[in-house]
Formats: sequence, C-alpha cells, structure tokens
Amino acid sequence: MARVYIKHIGEHLGKQVVLKGWLYNKRSSGKLVFLQLRDGTGIIQCVVFKGDVKEEVFNLADSLTQESSIEITGIVKEDKRSPIGFEIGVSDVKLLHASKDYPISPKEHGTAFLMDNRHLWLRSSRQVAILKIRDEIIFSIREYFKNNDFTLVDSPILTPAACEGTSTLFETDYFGEKAFLSQSGQLYGEASAMALGKIYCFGPTFRAEKSKTRRHLTEFWMVEPEVAFNTLDDDMDLAEDFICYIVGKVLKNCQAELKTLERDISKLENIKKPFPRISYTEAIEILNKNGNPTEWGGDIGGDEETIISQQFDRPVMIHRYPAAIKAFYMKRDPKDPRLALAVDVIGPEGYGEIIGGSEREEDYDTLVTRIKEQGLPPEAFDWYLDLRKYGSVPHSGFGMGIERMVSWVCGLHHVRETIPFPRLMDRLKP
Ligand code: 4AD
Ligand code: MG
Repeated sequence: MARVYIKHIGEHLGKQVVLKGWLYNKRSSGKLVFLQLRDGTGIIQCVVFKGDVKEEVFNLADSLTQESSIEITGIVKEDKRSPIGFEIGVSDVKLLHASKDYPISPKEHGTAFLMDNRHLWLRSSRQVAILKIRDEIIFSIREYFKNNDFTLVDSPILTPAACEGTSTLFETDYFGEKAFLSQSGQLYGEASAMALGKIYCFGPTFRAEKSKTRRHLTEFWMVEPEVAFNTLDDDMDLAEDFICYIVGKVLKNCQAELKTLERDISKLENIKKPFPRISYTEAIEILNKNGNPTEWGGDIGGDEETIISQQFDRPVMIHRYPAAIKAFYMKRDPKDPRLALAVDVIGPEGYGEIIGGSEREEDYDTLVTRIKEQGLPPEAFDWYLDLRKYGSVPHSGFGMGIERMVSWVCGLHHVRETIPFPRLMDRLKP
C-alpha cells in the first residue's frame, strides 16, 4: 500500500492509504479517538472507532502523546467540516517513537520560552505557514528574475571591506588578516552587472546591529538586483513591479497559509502599481504636518516610516535623500548636489523599509573623493574603482530584506518569526 502525503489525500478518496507523521493533537470520547496527524504538508483528522480496530490498536491510539511519530493506515473519507475536506477512518496505528513531555503544549507560551525552543516551535501550524510563505516568496523572486533575463551571480560572504558603513561590521580573523562578514553583496553585484548586464545576488548578510527592534536581525537574507544603464527611475519601476509579482504569487499559492495566520488579505490584494513616489523633502513635510519634528537632513527612522506609511494604502517610495545620511557609492542628484539618487521602499501598515536602493556613482574621481570623505581606505576599493575605469556606465540596483518582506506579507509583529533560526543581538542559540 502506497504511503501518501496529506496534501495529496484528495486523490485517494475511498481508498486505503498509509500516512506517516507526528501527533499534533488528540481528543477522545468513549468509543472514539480523534488524532490530528501532521506530516509537514498538512494536518488531517484520523478517526479511530473502537468497533473498527483491534483492542490494542484502540488503546494505543487513546494513549498517544503529543508529537509522537506514528504510522496510520485507513480509508480516505470526505468530511465537509474539515478545513481540508477529508478525514481518515483508521484501521491501524503504529507507534514509531513515543514523545515524552513535549514542552510546547497547545496553551499560550511566552516569547522567550518559544525562542529557546525554536527547534520545536517550528512544528506549530503557524510557524509552518510562515516558512511556507517564506519559501513561496523566495521561489517567486528567483522566478521573477529568471523570467526577466537576470542572471544569478552570488557574491562572497567573507570580504575585505565595508559596503554599508563600518559601524555594523562583524570582524573575523582570516589567516592573520582582518576579514568581515558581508553586509551586502552590492559592490560585487556591480562588477557582475558590468559583465552580464542584469544580475541579482541572493544570500545571507550580516550586521552587528546593536538595536533591539522588531525589524532588525544580525543575520538576514538579502536579494540584490543590479542593472547596467538603469537610472533611479528605472530602479523604482523595477522595485514596484518586483513587489507586485511576489505579493501576487503569495496570494495565488498560499491562501491556506494566509488563513492560518489570519492575515487580512484585502490589504495584500490592494498592492497594485503604481506606488506613490515622494521625495525625501515631501516626506519631511508629511512628518511635520503629522506632529513629528524631524528636520530636513535628519534620518527617517522606524517611527517616521510608520507615520508616512499610514498616509498610503500601498508601499510608498521615498527618493532623493540628503547625501550626508546615505552610503558613499550613491550618485548625487545633478539638479541638487545635496541629494543622493537613493530610494527606500516603505511597506504599508507600519512595516517600515523593505527595500533600499540607488543609482550608483559612475565617475572615477568623484567616487575616490566620496570614499576618502567617509574615512574608508581607498586601497580596499581599488578593484571596485576599476569598474569606473573600463567602460563605466550609469547603473542602479537595490536590496530587499527577505525577512522584512515575509514579515509584512504574513502580517507578523516581529521579524524573529520570519527566519527558521533567528540571530539577534541577544540570541545565538538554537
Ligand atoms: O538599505 P540597505 O542597508 O541597503 C543595502 O545594503 C544596499 N547595499 C542594497 C543595494 O542597493 N544593493 O539594506 C537593504 C534592505 C533593507 O531595506 C531591509 O529590508 C534589509 O535590507 N535590512 C535588514 N533586514 C533585517 N535586519 C536588518 N538588520 C536589516 N538591515 C537591512
Ligand atoms: Mg536602508
């Protein structure tokens, strides 16, 4: 008899099947035991009726403990009340391994406890739903780029210099030399774009963030497209199209997961082009009008992003920030050199910055000046400067933090639930 996965159970209606998995929950009432079996593809109710099975099978079913691994044989029946439309009429139960005193019971637990038990917490339906949506998001990202002629070019993780400023670098010893964990693959992405035109890199990035917020991890995944000959406007067009594609895919393929998370999907259905585009200067005006005192030149932090996002029903793109608060590689606005041709895409519903990007400085001398101004060692960037020596072109790109995206799409409170094993300032285990 074939072993089947719960996801495909509907193809076996009326037939006998074998299911393997773990006991999620159990309820008994006299002659009936209801076993909730999970196998990673779904959860199904398996009904054990005393009159249908051997006495020892019934007693075993009745005594099963949460998260024991089991094998169930039974007939697939239609069940209108079940969320998946089917249940199993059990004929046999085998215990594979008995779980004793599983620490996470169906009752509420505190966050610290759940985080300490993250390796087990992953088994809960809510966490499974989040991980499935994360998978869908990553798959749709790769699909989007494949469909649009981008080539994946991975950048290194061990690097000799900073990309996004020196304050959040993780340092490590590299055979007697200093090396740093990558904060962003961008600089390598730019080199790759000069070879292949349209590229993206996608990998883990590291920042020694000393801030304990609901948006910051010390290890997170970033996807970074970079396109030769693209301007800032092209960059914004790409960011907008990209976000709409990803959200559309999740809506199409993850309805069950969004339901498990009780996500208000009308908010996601609203995510359509065009996204509002406002300048940094306009953003400051919006803040001041709403009682936030940030002055021109000041940073737009999490609280400010929330106020701005509340004015719109979809992501908002803020462009042309003061150059002084942005990275060295950003091109200045030819119309106003105080400004950098940068863009941040702010998620709706207070989710904050999801994408950060810019047009890059393509002039050799200007870039050397910027590197020196920021106190960065020019010799570490000699290879990067070469890109401005041999056929330099305008180009632009951006980085999207996967966990920020998952957090918004799933409607979560904190990014710690968006990645299987989160790394935070105060957490390196499990
Ligand atoms: O705005 P950031 O710092 O941009 C860059 O790193 C550029 N080099 C990207 C590029 O142009 N190729 O980071 C990009 C995104 C942010 O918008 C945010 O979504 C995410 O990365 N991010 C974080 N996510 C989780 N935890 C953190 N500590 C993050 N820092 C940035
Ligand atoms: Mg940023």
